[in-house]
Amino acid sequence: CWHDLRTYRLMYQPPYFYPSLHLYKADTMRTIDWDDESNSIVMTDQTLLPAEYKVIECTTLASLCEAIMSLRVRGAPALGVAGGYGMALAARLSSAKDMDALLKDMQIAAKTIKATRPTAVNLAWGVDRILHAINDTYDLKGIRIVALSEAKRMADEDVAKNRKIGEHGARLLEDGDVVLTHCNAGRMACVDWGTALGVIRSAVEDGKQIQVVACETRPLNQGGRITAWELMQDNIPVTLIADSMSGHLMRNGFIDKVIVGADRITGDVVFNKIGTYTHSVLAKEHEIPFYVAAPLSTFDLEGWEETVPIELRDEDELRFCNGKAIAPKDVKVYNPAFDATPMENITALITEKGVYYPPFLLEELFI
Ligand code: MRU
Repeated sequence: CWHDLRTYRLMYQPPYFYPSLHLYKADTMRTIDWDDESNSIVMTDQTLLPAEYKVIECTTLASLCEAIMSLRVRGAPALGVAGGYGMALAARLSSAKDMDALLKDMQIAAKTIKATRPTAVNLAWGVDRILHAINDTYDLKGIRIVALSEAKRMADEDVAKNRKIGEHGARLLEDGDVVLTHCNAGRMACVDWGTALGVIRSAVEDGKQIQVVACETRPLNQGGRITAWELMQDNIPVTLIADSMSGHLMRNGFIDKVIVGADRITGDVVFNKIGTYTHSVLAKEHEIPFYVAAPLSTFDLEGWEETVPIELRDEDELRFCNGKAIAPKDVKVYNPAFDATPMENITALITEKGVYYPPFLLEELFI
């Protein structure tokens, strides 16, 4: 088996894998956007990937909240923008006739949106940014205009920040590197480009030959369904593994670096998709650099591991797969969506401001 893996790696040495690099082969639409014609939020329905690429419209706050909770839109930065557009939608849909009533409607909308998913701090960040932006606006029309233009600005900034993250992070990757990633921190988790996958895309754009090992990310398979699909769209070599295989690959020298995204970074830990912590422990054991790529909107300077709620998801996500029972239907299930990786397992944080090494005094990033 060890021998096979070596052969496998040799087989995939460049230039075998690079018939032509073609970023954005399939579509160029943003993961989440505002449609000025229908005055609605449009997004890729990520629950259907990779079988179907479908764009859906959210015309009501309820449909946006459903889309967030069922992961039609997902990934921390994309959730931040969903929060922003959700507030713009709430302002537009409100039938309030005076300022007090409109602000009250917006406060209710803010609470409703924030309650959909508790761990990724970007969602609350996106909502609060709109509330802050409308602070100095004193008429109904003005509030609707400001809320939407601020949300659009957030979406544009997300793309620009990811490009910066990519630019900084790409310097950490060497030609020929094999990089392991978990979940999906790509363009589908953001408005475009991606954080962890953005680093890989930027390195490839710089002419480096990078291979990606994507962990399937049970139970909802964001790695298998979305990361593998995204990278194949871009002709970036990707090999899918089950989450439990990462230690075996690391031990046998097949992984040069690990890069993941984040849902919330507090003073002591990085919250990311369940399974990230396990990879970090294994990377530390095998002296493999472990990088976390995230925008500053993912940082929670006031938070600590014990203060952050970890989202517990529906038990049936483990009992069923595509409607088919894969466990006894009455089995007791524990299904946390995220785990916490301690800072001592992290080699560096990659943000739009640059690469940041320990000791991680996070306040310094905001000066
Ligand atoms: O439950 P999800 O799919 O929203 O979880 C997403 C992740 O954990 C991502 O790794 C994280 O949001 C980083 S996205 C750039």
